[in-house]
Amino acid sequence: MLNWLFDRKKTEELNLDHIGIDIHSHLLPGIDDGVETVEEAVAMVRKMQSLGYKKLVTTPHVMWDCYRNTPEIILSKVEQVRSACRDAGLVVELAAAAEYFIDEHFNEMLASGETILTLPGNRVLVELPYSTPLMNTSETLFSIIERGYQPILAHPERYTYFYSTPEVYRKLVDQGCELQLNILSLTTYYGENINRMAEWLLKNNLITFLGTDAHKMQHIDMIQRSNRKNWISDYPFQNTKLLNIPE
Ligand SMILES: [Fe+2]
Repeated sequence: MLNWLFDRKKTEELNLDHIGIDIHSHLLPGIDDGVETVEEAVAMVRKMQSLGYKKLVTTPHVMWDCYRNTPEIILSKVEQVRSACRDAGLVVELAAAAEYFIDEHFNEMLASGETILTLPGNRVLVELPYSTPLMNTSETLFSIIERGYQPILAHPERYTYFYSTPEVYRKLVDQGCELQLNILSLTTYYGENINRMAEWLLKNNLITFLGTDAHKMQHIDMIQRSNRKNWISDYPFQNTKLLNIPE
């Protein structure tokens, strides 16, 4: 009887096999506000593998006021975690890009042609401030495209200053920006308003990719227990297309 209950609970947990690749997380220890130790990183990778992911491209913050992460720092850290995962017998593929905060430093990197770490398909994951809108979002996205990259805006549902003019989201998409939704925005983890906006963006077919944005084990646990399976299984997220693009 107890076994039956346990099995039943297990089958109700979220399976992300059809998503295949996660493109947003903070799994490199000690370089941003994500995981703190290699052991914690390995435990999270193990859990994400059990959710059905085949590949994880982790994306530490590059935000010059707080996290001065360079490609060298990120790539050496990912090698360390990759090797620990291999030693732990994990088979999920691990790679790294970055989540670039649009600041002066990012604009200078773009202008000078410095190396930018990308997701498959030359995609660049960018984020905006949470509290006040940038004056030059559109120009920066245009510069990214002009430089031959494809911008992905991380968690558009979390920028509440867009809520009074939601047509901005359509403009971003029309401008060539892909939008990445956080799985936890489909719960009330970030609040009711963000949850509502996440559903609105999906209803309006504005989202391209689903991401975990996992910073700690608690996030993965909450994703695993998330009850928004319908949105996740019915919406045509494009993540798996990235699995087939060679690095
Ligand atoms: Fe993030």
